[in-house]
Order: sequence, then C-alpha cells, then structure tokens
Amino acid sequence: MLSLAARLLCLRVSGCCGGSRSMATVVSGNKTSKLVRERLQGDVLRMQVQAPGFRPGLVVLQVGDRDDSNLYISSKMRAAAEIGIDARHVRLPRSATEAEVLRSVQAVNQNPAVHGLIVQLPLDAAEPIDTQNVIDAIAPAKDVDGLTSVNAGRLSRGELAGCLLPCTPSGCMELIRQTGVSVAGKHAVVIGRSKIVGAPMRDLLLWSHATVTSCHSRTHDLPEQVSRADILVAAAGKAELVRGEWLKEGALVIDCGINHVADETKPSGKRLVGDVHYASANQRAGYITPVPGGVGPMTVAMLMENTVQSAWRVLQQSQAGR
Ligand code: GUN
Repeated sequence: MLSLAARLLCLRVSGCCGGSRSMATVVSGNKTSKLVRERLQGDVLRMQVQAPGFRPGLVVLQVGDRDDSNLYISSKMRAAAEIGIDARHVRLPRSATEAEVLRSVQAVNQNPAVHGLIVQLPLDAAEPIDTQNVIDAIAPAKDVDGLTSVNAGRLSRGELAGCLLPCTPSGCMELIRQTGVSVAGKHAVVIGRSKIVGAPMRDLLLWSHATVTSCHSRTHDLPEQVSRADILVAAAGKAELVRGEWLKEGALVIDCGINHVADETKPSGKRLVGDVHYASANQRAGYITPVPGGVGPMTVAMLMENTVQSAWRVLQQSQAGR
C-alpha cells in the first residue's frame, strides 16, 4: 500500500506505478488578463473621482496596412475602450517617409492628453525606415511598449522602478506570478533574444534573481540547455520547436510563440501553434501556457497597464504641482 505522499507523487511522475501521469496545470492568459483589465477599469474610475474629466490617453501609430497588425491593433482598441482609456489609432500610408513618421511621433510626445504611444511593428513602409530611430523618438515617459533605448537600458541595469516594461515579457512575469512558483534562485532558460521579447525577458528574470541562460539560433545543443530549465520561456518564432522530451520534469513553460501552420481539417486551412509542442510538453511540464489564450492576451493587458501607470504618474505630478 502506497502512502498518500507517494500516491500524490505518482500523479506527477511519468510512468510511475504503471499509471498515467497527470497533465500540467494550464496557466490561462485569458483569465489572468481579464483580472488585470478589471483592476484597470477600477483604476480609471478612481482617477475620474480624483480629477473629473481625466482619462488615460493612448495612441497606436501604424504605418501601412498589414493584416496581422490590423488584428492586433483592433484588439488593443477594444481593450482600451472597455477599460475607459481614450485610445486613438493613427494610420500613416505605406508611402510615409521616416521624417513624416518622426513628425507624428513628436506631435504625440507634445500632446499632454496622451500618456502612452506605441508604434505598431513591423513598419509596413514602401521605403526603408530605421525602426529603432523611430522608437527612440518616443518620449521615454510615454513609451508604453518599453522599447526605447532609455527604457531598455534601465531594465538591463535592473532600474525597474523608473522604467516602463515591454508588454509581452511583463505579461509572462504576471503569468509566472500566478503560478506561485518563486523565480529567485531558479534556473530560467529563454529561447530568443529579440528586443521585443527575448532580451527584456532575460533581464526581467535576471532581476527577479533567477540564473538565466539566453539561447538563440547559434546555441549548441538546445535540448540540453532546455533540459536544465526550471522555468522555460520560448520566444523563438519557430512552430513547435521545443519537444516535451526536452523538458525537466515539472518545469514551468511559458510559450510566447504565435505561428500559423497548415491544417486541412480547419475551415481556414491553418491553425495557431506556439514555439512549444503542446501535446508532448503537457505530459512533462508542471505548468504550461496554451496557444492561443496564454501569453497573447497578456500582451494587450500589460499595454493597458503601462498606459494607466503612465497616466497615474502625470495625474500625481499635476496634483503635486497645484
Ligand atoms: N507587433 C507585434 N507585437 C508588438 C508589440 O508588442 N508592440 C509593438 N509595437 N508592435 C508589435
């Protein structure tokens, strides 16, 4: 007869006692993002009590007309409207030059009713535009994407109090907090080093006191690196790259991938998958985020969070100056 502790362990250990192992706990971005959005709704109402007529203001600046960007922007506009954020979508044509885009950014920087500005990426311009130059023109205090060199530099140094955090990594941290797993002292592995996800994710985990391994396209023996991870964040942009067999038993797996793969059984002929092979990872991980419904909705929620945070700062400064 097995003790209760041993039987509970069997639920987690693959193949033990000839029984099947339990699946990972699913970490829902749909649920967590809803909680964040509800909290922000309350914040906006409180602002209006403190300063009647005041609303957080957000501008989403788009160049061109990419279908994927249009979809992302409409979900941002919907979330903003629900929360009570005054959001405006400014669209420049594909023919816009870098100078014209910079002028639009400067105009928003100077508008006191706008507390947050994001430039939707990638830019869909006919002529080449230096994306980082455009991003760096955003006033750091309004950089609710956290992508300016100023905010990225603060984050890389661990100066978190004064900086706006990039939305996807910030959403991943919120999902990790939801699990109750503590980050300090853990071994975290981040796959991908993009400015928008991988690099800031590495920094956030590092300043949350994890020991971090940063993997990328030149990393040797990725399965070996992944097998050491207590916490894995996959942001490689490669469909189902990470196999369940690679994972440490019980690992916390955060999947930032958004990849379309062909699927003839779907009316659209395609289906959305992450960077992690979900079915096999689910057998081995302790916690896992689904795709869709994991990290994706958190990105939008954290953009709203940054916008409200930026508006609070302005409101508090104006009330302190009275
Ligand atoms: N394109 C895809 N994701 C993002 C994001 O988080 N921010 C911006 N600005 N563009 C994106």
